[in-house]
Amino acid sequence: MGIPRNLTRSTTITLRNKLSQLPQSSGNYSQEKHDSEGIDLALGFQVDAVEAALGARPLGAQVWGHLSSQVFQTPYAEILRILQDLAPKPGDLVVDLGAAYGRMGFVVEAFFPQVRFLGYECSAERVAEAQRVMELYGLSLSQMVPQNLEAADFEPEKAQHYFLYDFGTREAISKTLLDLKKIARGGSIQVAARGRASRDAIEREHPWLSQVNPARHSAHTSIYRS
Ligand SMILES: C[S@@+](CC[C@H](N)C(=O)[O-])C[C@H]1O[C@@H](n2cnc3c(N)ncnc32)[C@H](O)[C@@H]1O
Repeated sequence: MGIPRNLTRSTTITLRNKLSQLPQSSGNYSQEKHDSEGIDLALGFQVDAVEAALGARPLGAQVWGHLSSQVFQTPYAEILRILQDLAPKPGDLVVDLGAAYGRMGFVVEAFFPQVRFLGYECSAERVAEAQRVMELYGLSLSQMVPQNLEAADFEPEKAQHYFLYDFGTREAISKTLLDLKKIARGGSIQVAARGRASRDAIEREHPWLSQVNPARHSAHTSIYRS
């Protein structure tokens, strides 16, 4: 069942107010990480409690539980810049491969009307917390799904835009890039790759992505188009 139109609009405005500083951000990484901590709190995330619970038990996949959540997540302001570069159109789908708390979904809903977001994340606890906060704001076009991207029988949903930030081992990233290669046979896709491992894998092993169109590089992220 859909959310009533007026409720959707008012929750989008509330969300946008809480993210209103993003377009004016300085681009200073430490500052943006610090600001993102404040935004997490303002949105109502209980990241510390979830991470403490995760830290209390051994983890199978590489979930980055040993690092601060501000280190393994992309700052909100940088996410906005990545999305502005991807420039999704109404009706497009943006997929975050290893989405943690689904930050990108909040930025998509606040700044990109009618664009859909899907986040895959192997930590069920992070997914549950992301879903709880998404429900608080009635995010109707964003979805978080608990999923191990490495599972042999899994392929990501077909989309126009993917975000890939060094989510796991090099093997896991390679498997996901092969999945994207299959998807790209059906039409051009854009991949925003953040971090050394993802960019290195694309540059060395995936000419279908790195060599067809010129990549756009910034300090942390490269945007590729097949
Ligand atoms: C570096 S964080 C990036 C989070 C988010 N994309 C961002 O940039 O803010 C990578 C996330 O991928 C998740 N992850 C690691 N291995 C995974 C796998 N095999 N399948 C799905 N998610 C995975 C981790 O739990 C972590 O939350």
